[in-house]
Amino acid sequence: MLNDDPVGLSGVSPMTTLLDWLREHRGLKGTKEGCAEGDCGACTVVLERDGPNGQVRREAVNACIAMLGQVDGLSVRTVEGLRGTDGSAHSVQIAMAEADATQCGFCTPGFVMSAYAFSAGGETADADTIHEALAGNLCRCTGYRPIVDAMTKVAGLAVEPAPSVPARTASAVFDGAFFAPRSLDELLKLRKAHPEAMLLAGGTDLGLLAGHRRQPPKEIIHLAHVPELAAIASDKESITLGAAVTYAQAMPLLVAAYPALRPYLSRLGSRQIRNLGTIGGNVGNASPIGDMPPVLLALEATVTLASVRGTRELPLEDFFTGYRETALAPDEVILSLSMPCLRPGEVFFCDKVSKRRDQDISTVAAGYRLRIEDGRIADVRVGIGGMAATPRRATHVEKALLKEGFAAAAAAIPKDFQPIDDWRGSAAYRLQVAANLLRRLELRIAQPARVLEVEAL
Ligand SMILES: Cc1cc2nc3c(=O)[nH]c(=O)nc-3n(C[C@H](O)[C@H](O)[C@H](O)COP(=O)(O)OP(=O)(O)OC[C@H]3O[C@@H](n4cnc5c(N)ncnc54)[C@H](O)[C@@H]3O)c2cc1C
Ligand code: FES
Ligand code: FES
Repeated sequence: MLNDDPVGLSGVSPMTTLLDWLREHRGLKGTKEGCAEGDCGACTVVLERDGPNGQVRREAVNACIAMLGQVDGLSVRTVEGLRGTDGSAHSVQIAMAEADATQCGFCTPGFVMSAYAFSAGGETADADTIHEALAGNLCRCTGYRPIVDAMTKVAGLAVEPAPSVPARTASAVFDGAFFAPRSLDELLKLRKAHPEAMLLAGGTDLGLLAGHRRQPPKEIIHLAHVPELAAIASDKESITLGAAVTYAQAMPLLVAAYPALRPYLSRLGSRQIRNLGTIGGNVGNASPIGDMPPVLLALEATVTLASVRGTRELPLEDFFTGYRETALAPDEVILSLSMPCLRPGEVFFCDKVSKRRDQDISTVAAGYRLRIEDGRIADVRVGIGGMAATPRRATHVEKALLKEGFAAAAAAIPKDFQPIDDWRGSAAYRLQVAANLLRRLELRIAQPARVLEVEAL
């Protein structure tokens, strides 16, 4: 569906970006292209899909990195599809106009669509929530205060019901090259038959090939509709997330289990990125600077891989074998990730240091799980990213923390990591940041109230 109208397509590649299709094929030029890599939000549209308890989820996404095949069976709303109950401007558009929240107007449709998704989410209009909801939209001329004023006005507005989109249950193949299986069995057979095909979860990494680089993959296997990969399970002991669960879907559970993840995850990309991106994709991408691996390493996560030969479970630390290399065999997919819940006496912290606060990839990211007994560290696991070719555990640091304390742990960092210089940070800077983060950890443990107060500033 597009703006409430059913759409059937032929003669257009499923690897075309949603943005190109909207603008070039449908003539809907309200959705703009700024960066074509998910950063600026000018291309924001809203996906409407079934959510829990029969409610409709309205999710802002970046059309410049979403491929057409990905939105099959979903309802897409663009700025042209917004209208008020009397057929005139939508209340979000009126609020933007009344707040003088637009100048050149290039960014405005993107802001309007983010505001529309925000207003439909029933969220409060506090400054932090609005800031977070807008982190994926850039404006170069208005200044953000009037936009925030408009967002404040529309927070929690009741919205019109979304069109009902008949759930598609049958698998699909588009153009002989974009496979969208609906069962695990089918996915694994496809994987065996097409080991060169790219596995597409949310596409917030892969979509850049189609959008920014203009070199779309030749073959794609889309994972989002496989029920086993979309499953979330938890009990008192552990949490298991299917590899195609998005950050937005996983966040409530993860934040409840590990509260330190709330600020951390709200800085992972933007809402647009978290609405499509998955933790499975972050792990599968095997970037040394992905945000989730350090956290998952600290939490002692395991990864379950599946193929037609069966499944196998690995500690996550054995999954990363080299720079962007993994233990995944050509016929395997990541099925799920599991992590133990915190046991009594355990605490968990994490930190991300990036050049820009919002919408930026980490220079260094770290996760720590500790058990404190009688004021002493009785057990600890530390995962760090941005310091080596792969995200890694800091085993020398862990030993020093257990036996000698924080000063010795900071001194042990070079034994675990010999980082490289790059434009995000020099080796010396990264080593210093990792040491500073250990100092912050020490203060958090010694003076938790004071540190939390400072971090909230
Ligand atoms: C603007 C922007 C901001 C971003 N900000 C951040 C950030 O702050 N922190 C961060 O860590 N990342 C960030 N990213 C990167 C990206 O959003 C994450 O890496 C995300 O988790 C990727 O998930 P995905 O589902 O979109 O992966 P996809 O793009 O679908 O896939 C990524 C890779 O993983 C592989 N893969 C996916 N699923 C599986 C599976 N089940 N089995 C095997 N392989 C699989 C794919 O084949 C591909 O190689 C950002 C990206 C953009 C565009
Ligand atoms: S064009 Fe910039 S995020 Fe899509
Ligand atoms: S109004 Fe010009 S970029 Fe935002």
